[in-house]
Amino acid sequence: MNRSEPERSPILSVEQLSVLAGERKILSDISIEFPDRDITAIIGPSGCGKTTFIRTLNRMIETSPGLVVQGTVRYRGQDVYARSVNPVLVRQRIGMVFQRPTVFPLSIYENVAFGLRLQRTEETAVEPVVRRCLERAGLWSEIGGRLDQPALELSGGQQQRLCIARALAIEPRVLLFDEPTSSLDPIAAQKVEELFAELRRDYAVIIVTHNLPQAARVASRTAFLYQGRLIEFGPTEELFERPKERLTQEYITGRFG
Ligand SMILES: Nc1ncnc2c1ncn2[C@@H]1O[C@H](COP(=O)(O)OP(=O)(O)O)[C@@H](O)[C@H]1O
Ligand SMILES: [Mg+2]
Repeated sequence: MNRSEPERSPILSVEQLSVLAGERKILSDISIEFPDRDITAIIGPSGCGKTTFIRTLNRMIETSPGLVVQGTVRYRGQDVYARSVNPVLVRQRIGMVFQRPTVFPLSIYENVAFGLRLQRTEETAVEPVVRRCLERAGLWSEIGGRLDQPALELSGGQQQRLCIARALAIEPRVLLFDEPTSSLDPIAAQKVEELFAELRRDYAVIIVTHNLPQAARVASRTAFLYQGRLIEFGPTEELFERPKERLTQEYITGRFG
């Protein structure tokens, strides 16, 4: 698959999505499609609804009581909020990596194996997956020799890449990242960023980022959210160089948030 290949059907499509907290609309009427094997960035000022939005995509939002989701999210054409759909399976196919690394107080190996244990995968099948996911997360050469070490002893950047390896182990098709490098130092952040180019070959990647140069470097398409609305969505270069909306122009030139 190469990135210029035409007409890929979207892996995720969102139609008229709104999220309400009581009377208040946190997200209003968002419609957007995400292609497979590509990277989309979501940008916008703090509090505009970026985290809420990506949490709707895999039903993680249902773990926050009091929020009401309206509209449709389709994964490969199937409504992920349909009654017959198990949210655990949705989160398996649509994985998420958070702003701060969320490693478990277990060994490096057991962190990556975690989801497979829940699925009661046989041990002989676990080991090759652990290795492959650590390789894909760019960690094997760094820590492949000390898999029994507590994961919490790794550096912040390594912990974040371990979380990526853990997410990969349960074979997602979509990976959601919520400001994945904002808690990391620049070198660790760069290593995570370099992974995206690799991940895009096999996954649909959606990255929330505050870091506009990062969006410009990694994403082929960028969406700008403001006050819960999707203001503009298009090829990254166009959005940054020839924004159609005044609000986009103001945001990318640093006039607010
Ligand atoms: N569980 C919740 N209940 C009520 N309001 C919420 C909840 N989660 C988020 N919000 C509100 O929704 C808005 C968007 O938040 P968020 O999605 O975290 O924005 P961002 O990630 O862009 O900073 C904020 O005003 C926030 O206070
Ligand atoms: Mg956020």
